[in-house]
Amino acid sequence: MINNITVIGTGYVGLVTGTCLSDFGLNVLCIDQDESKINKLNNGIIPIYEPGLQELVRKNYAEGRLHFSTDIISGIQNSEVIFIAVGTPPKDDGSADLDNVVKVAQTIARHMNGPKVVVNKSTVPIGTARLVKKIIEANKTAPYRVDVVSNPEFLREGAAVYDFMHPDRVVVGAQNPEVKEIMKQVYRVLFLNQKTPFLFTSPETAEAIKYVSNAFLATKITFINELSELFEKAGCNIVDVARGMGMDGRIGSKFLNPGPGYGGSCFPKDTRALAKTSREYGVELTLVEATIAANEKQKRRMVDKIEAALGNLQDKTLAILGLAFKPETDDMRDSPALTIIPELIQRGALIKAYDPKAMEEAKWRLEGIPGLELVNSPYEAASEAHALVILTEWNQFRSLDLIRLRENMQEPIFIDLRNIYEPIFMKQQGFCYYSVGRS
Ligand SMILES: NC(=O)c1ccc[n+]([C@@H]2O[C@H](COP(=O)([O-])OP(=O)(O)OC[C@H]3O[C@@H](n4cnc5c(N)ncnc54)[C@H](O)[C@@H]3O)[C@@H](O)[C@H]2O)c1
Repeated sequence: MINNITVIGTGYVGLVTGTCLSDFGLNVLCIDQDESKINKLNNGIIPIYEPGLQELVRKNYAEGRLHFSTDIISGIQNSEVIFIAVGTPPKDDGSADLDNVVKVAQTIARHMNGPKVVVNKSTVPIGTARLVKKIIEANKTAPYRVDVVSNPEFLREGAAVYDFMHPDRVVVGAQNPEVKEIMKQVYRVLFLNQKTPFLFTSPETAEAIKYVSNAFLATKITFINELSELFEKAGCNIVDVARGMGMDGRIGSKFLNPGPGYGGSCFPKDTRALAKTSREYGVELTLVEATIAANEKQKRRMVDKIEAALGNLQDKTLAILGLAFKPETDDMRDSPALTIIPELIQRGALIKAYDPKAMEEAKWRLEGIPGLELVNSPYEAASEAHALVILTEWNQFRSLDLIRLRENMQEPIFIDLRNIYEPIFMKQQGFCYYSVGRS
C-alpha cells in the first residue's frame, strides 16, 4: 500500500495537493526550493490565501502527516510516488516554460534509490510525460524503473481545497495497469467514494484534457464578454441574456458572467500555450487565437468605458476596488488590474486601489508606478475620488455603505465591471452607474 508521497513545488497547487492528500491519511512531504516559503510553513504561516487551507495545514502538520522541506533529495528517496507541481510560466512566445519540470526530472534521475512513479500535476504541453521519462532514463545512475503519469489539476483558486476534495473528475494518464493501481491507492479516499469520476487514459490525452478544458472555459467567458458591447448599445440586459442561455442544459449557466476579461495564473497562459503547441503541429486554432485577442480587446474596452464615463482621465482620481484576478484569492498573476491600472494612469488618471487579500502582492507587482497609491479600505480609496471602479467581485464590495461612499467622492460615478449592483437601485442611491452589457 502506498503511504509516503512527495510533492515537489509547494505553491497553490502543490500545497493544496500535499495538504489534502495528508488529510486523506497519507504521509506527505512537500518540497520547495523557496526557503522562505518552507520556513513560513514550518512555523504555521501559510504563504498564500486560500479559504480553509490554513486550518487543514495546521491540523495535518500537528498530527505528523504533513512535512515541509527544501531537501529535494530526501523527498525523492523517501517516497515511491513523487508529484511534480512546479510552475510552468509562459515564455515570450506563449509556450510553456518547462525549465522547472526539466530540472526536477534531472534531479529525480540523479537521486532515485528505487523504482519511482513520477506524477506530473503541473500544466504541461502534450508530450511532456514522454519528455520527463526520457530525461530520467537518460540521467539515472542505477537501473531502477521509472513510470511517468500525467495527472492534471483542475482546482479553482479561491475554492481549491473544496475542489481537490470534491473534484468533478480525476484524470490519470498512465501507461500500464500496475501504475494505474498505484494511482488508485494514492487517491483511494476519492476512488472508493463512487461519486468521483475517474478517467484513465494515455498521458498525452490527459495533458490535452487540461489545456482544452481551460481553452473552452476561456472561450465561453470571452463569448459573453464580447457580446457585452453589443448589448450595451442595443439596450439588452446581459444578465438576463446569460440566464436565458444558461437555462439551456446544453449550454449551462456557469462562466457566463461578463466582466473585464479573464485573468489568473491559468487561462491566459494555457490558451496561449495551446495555440503555440498547435501551431508547432501546423494546425491553426482559429477559435482559441480569437479568444486570446478578444480578451485583450475586452480589457482595453474597459479602460475606454471608464474614460468615457468621466469625459477624460487627466488628473482624475479613481478608486479601484479589487486587484486579485478573482475573489477569495491573493493571486494577481495576469489579473485584468495589471493591464487596466497602468493604462488608466497612462491616460492621466491617479489611482487609489484596495483589495482585501492581494495588497502584499500588489506592493511588488505595481511598485513604482507613479500615480498609484495602495490604501487600506474601500472608503479610503473612494475619498475625494471622481469615480469608483469595481474590478473584482469580492463579497465585501457587494454591501458597501453607498451613502458614505457617495458623500466622500468628488463625483458620484460608479463603474461596476462585475455587475454586482442593480442599475435602478444605484440610480436611486444617487450614482451615475455603469456596468458591463447593460445599457
Ligand atoms: N494555480 C492554479 O489555479 C492552477 C490550477 C491547475 C493547474 N495549475 C498548474 O500547476 C502548476 C503550478 O502552479 P501554481 O499556481 O501552484 O504555481 P506556484 O508558482 O504557486 O507554485 C510553484 C512552486 O514551485 C516551486 N518550484 C519551482 N521550481 C522548483 C524546483 N525546481 N524545485 C522545487 N520547487 C520548485 C516554486 O518555488 C513555487 O513555490 C502550473 O503548471 C500551473 O499551470 C495551476
